[in-house]
Amino acid sequence: MMRIAKPSIFYCVLLLVFTTIGCKQNKKENQSEMETAKTESEQNPIEETIFGEMPDGTKVKKFTLKNEAGMEVDVITYGGIITRWTAPDKQGNYEDIVLGFDSLEQYLDGSPYFGALIGRYGNRIANGKFSLDGETYTLATNDGDNHLHGGEKGFDKVVWNGVAKNTDKGANVELTYTSQDGEEGYPGKLDVKVTYTLTADNALDIQYEAVTDKPTVVNLTQHSYFNLSGQLSKQILDHEIYLNADAYLPVDGGLIPTGEFREVAGTPFDFKEPKLIGKEIEADNEQLDLGKGYDHCWVLNEGEEDFGLAASAYHPNTGRLLEVYTNEPGIQFYSGNFLDGTLPAQTGGTYVKRSGFCLETQHYPDSPNQADFPSVRLNPGETYSSRTMFKLSTK
Ligand code: GLA
Repeated sequence: MMRIAKPSIFYCVLLLVFTTIGCKQNKKENQSEMETAKTESEQNPIEETIFGEMPDGTKVKKFTLKNEAGMEVDVITYGGIITRWTAPDKQGNYEDIVLGFDSLEQYLDGSPYFGALIGRYGNRIANGKFSLDGETYTLATNDGDNHLHGGEKGFDKVVWNGVAKNTDKGANVELTYTSQDGEEGYPGKLDVKVTYTLTADNALDIQYEAVTDKPTVVNLTQHSYFNLSGQLSKQILDHEIYLNADAYLPVDGGLIPTGEFREVAGTPFDFKEPKLIGKEIEADNEQLDLGKGYDHCWVLNEGEEDFGLAASAYHPNTGRLLEVYTNEPGIQFYSGNFLDGTLPAQTGGTYVKRSGFCLETQHYPDSPNQADFPSVRLNPGETYSSRTMFKLSTK
């Protein structure tokens, strides 16, 4: 019995050893499965690096958002600036499609709002003055006699707090900033949150939110200069623009809307069918003279959807198509007329006149002084909420 028992004990021990090893191996397999799962859920890791340092020592972070398709968007905490944004052409080649700089110093030295978040007020406020509840507020006049893009130190020149995470909608970065009561002359302490989300289908979804503790005015936007050719120092005149607007806002010599809503039909301002930027930009037209090209706000047609297609830009050579969706009532189409070839381009050469165009979704310029324009007033207890999506594809 013993003789029989001995081998059976031996086999039992052997079995136990194997089972244990087997279990361990299973555990290992499970573990590596878990690791794969973890990698899958974090398959678009968001890189976080230091982009530079402010003169006071504050570190400026850079987040790189990526999606499965291969698109990458670099966002820095200084100004919430999009410094790089890669998109495929029709052959699948990814290239940077936004004007920007390689270093923080260049942004600090003077940037024409490349890629920046704009606040508290996108575009101009006449004579840097507006009234609210009988009180007059005086803002910086940083553009001739007028106030432009939030003043001397707008939201494009402050360091935001940035937190990045992967969500079921895609990789995102949430930027927050508190603008103190009286900052740049505006009333109310304003808490602002801007979320950039890069989706799987090559769209950058931007959600803006703000709350105030006193009645104030708010009009936030994004000031990316696009050049879909990927050759950032080349002119953008060969892009076709579509604007879903029957009217635009003519301006005076200081680029302040006159208050008139003018029909685009039969004018160089008609982009109801896609049209090359270069086609009529040099036409003999008083409004083009005043803007030195296109630098106007189009009154977006109200569609059935709250969040409809406002504009698109198409670059036939590369096949890149940019679509802009928004719930804002206006879009400033600016054809980069003030660029003058003095700033170095990331892809070599310089940023020459009209080497980038902007499609800034927003409420109309100078709304605080124009009773017929949709209101930009924000009261305590309300939440400012605005959404714009830039979607890229090829055709
Ligand atoms: C906006 C304005 C332009 C110009 C640029 C920045 O688009 O409408 O007039 O100031 O910003 O250079």
